[in-house]
Amino acid sequence: MQTPAQPVPIAVVGAGAFGRNHLRVLHELPQAALIAAVEPDPARADEVARLYSIPVHPTLDAALAAHPSLQAAVVAVPTVHHCEVASQLLSAGIHCLVEKPLAATLAQADQMIALADRHGCILQPGHLERFNPAVLAMQQDLRGPMFFEAHRLSIFTPRSLDVDVVLDLMIHDLDVVLRFAASPVRELRAVGLPILSGKVDIANVRVEFDSGCVANFTASRVSTERVRKLRYFEPGRYVSIDYARRDALVIAVDPHFQLEAAMSAGAAENFVNGLPGLNFDKPTIAPGEPLRLELESFLHAVATGSQPAVTARQGRNALELALGIQQQMADHAQRTGLQP
Ligand SMILES: NC(=O)c1ccc[n+]([C@@H]2O[C@H](COP(=O)([O-])OP(=O)(O)OC[C@H]3O[C@@H](n4cnc5c(N)ncnc54)[C@H](O)[C@@H]3O)[C@@H](O)[C@H]2O)c1
Repeated sequence: MQTPAQPVPIAVVGAGAFGRNHLRVLHELPQAALIAAVEPDPARADEVARLYSIPVHPTLDAALAAHPSLQAAVVAVPTVHHCEVASQLLSAGIHCLVEKPLAATLAQADQMIALADRHGCILQPGHLERFNPAVLAMQQDLRGPMFFEAHRLSIFTPRSLDVDVVLDLMIHDLDVVLRFAASPVRELRAVGLPILSGKVDIANVRVEFDSGCVANFTASRVSTERVRKLRYFEPGRYVSIDYARRDALVIAVDPHFQLEAAMSAGAAENFVNGLPGLNFDKPTIAPGEPLRLELESFLHAVATGSQPAVTARQGRNALELALGIQQQMADHAQRTGLQP
């Protein structure tokens, strides 16, 4: 009989809006031994200590001193602090799941990757949508997508305002499309506008890849509706992923369909009930909470020493694209006099 792996002693650093989601899931996972949290805000710290019966330390120094058995940590502090917190953890030999985006700058990302390599630690960026069951399912069945349309719209909330909408929201789609397109970026066009936060709150981007594939991204955190969709076209097939519903619609062209024959055979009545020659399919997708799947995957990598499903290098690639977009938005603002 196989011996079950020991639960991984883990802590969450930053118990804000998203850190508390990590705490909730880790508390439930048998693969994790949630032993501590770090949170400087006393009210949040008290609430977490009460909910999960764990010590909550005001500083990372205090947590590291109190828990020499700590093996892994989730870093869920504001993005501008990812590097300083993760660097301290990695230097102490602690495996890290760092919330997205991996860091605020490429120099910071490089520093974190070098520390992870030096100390033999796993460094996984928190690209949660990679664990969306719809993304996992369609990733198994890619047929050379050539055109992507990504929409991520949300209603304004006063959170993650240390970064703009590209690093806050669009980064999810950048990471998924980089994975799906599997080709280097050749050209970028971008426009972004600050609306409420003083940083860019709405952005539209066109990326062309070396393969010729083109991707359009729209992200807004000042919308009146919530939309999280990725649509793409492959030869003979259209796929629409709804991240929120965690499902996909696949419309394939019947390879035997001939437009001229259909038109001459039945003219208009052939088209009354929708387009002939198209097969609609809703693939069966196993349900699952992306955050739970992400944490299970991270804990598996820690327990087995295997490469994480999303690597630090992929997190760096998404960040590099996001920073390139920011540069293009700044150039566009300057050219057009749209400076904030
Ligand atoms: N994967 C996702 O879908 C997703 C969604 C939301 C947020 N995030 C990411 O999670 C991170 C946190 O976002 P949030 O919305 O929870 O922010 P938040 O401001 O609600 O929470 C951050 C918390 O970190 C604490 N903190 C600050 N500095 C700290 C330090 N040095 N040590 C310990 N705690 C510290 C703050 O007191 C606060 O409670 C960001 O990187 C954000 O991009 C990811």
